[in-house]
Amino acid sequence: MKYGELMKLALEAREKSYSPYSNYRVGAALLGESGTVFTGCNVENAAYSPGICAERTAFVKAVSEGERNFRAIAIVGGPKDGMPETAPPCGVCRQVMMEFCSPDTFAIILGTGPEDCRSYTLAELLPKGFGPGNLKK
Ligand code: THU
Repeated sequence: MKYGELMKLALEAREKSYSPYSNYRVGAALLGESGTVFTGCNVENAAYSPGICAERTAFVKAVSEGERNFRAIAIVGGPKDGMPETAPPCGVCRQVMMEFCSPDTFAIILGTGPEDCRSYTLAELLPKGFGPGNLKK
């Protein structure tokens, strides 16, 4: 699947965002090694801290459906009443990527849409990350 197509799915997922507190909508589309795409949006909460980011929604959906290996994720954000904007993943989401993805090959697609996006590796966005390999003896 092309990165632009994945970004289009992220834009569609962004429409589902439940974000009445920040009014900031994020969508993500996560491509598994199997070829399946798992989408996610941010889901906020009146108690604030239970809120979850779009990226982690996608990862939790995927892992709970049996997918554990991933090729790429497209992410897009922006205010509810504005145009889509580039939304770099938060630190917690980068750490969750580190759990399941190869730092050198996993592609993180950021931008505002299919015609305006570029790919970063996880290693670029989370240099010297701590991952499962650090706990193996
Ligand atoms: N958000 C995401 O969904 N992903 C990120 O990586 C950054 C932030 C969400 C969380 C919250 O619902 C809103 O954006 C504003 O922070």
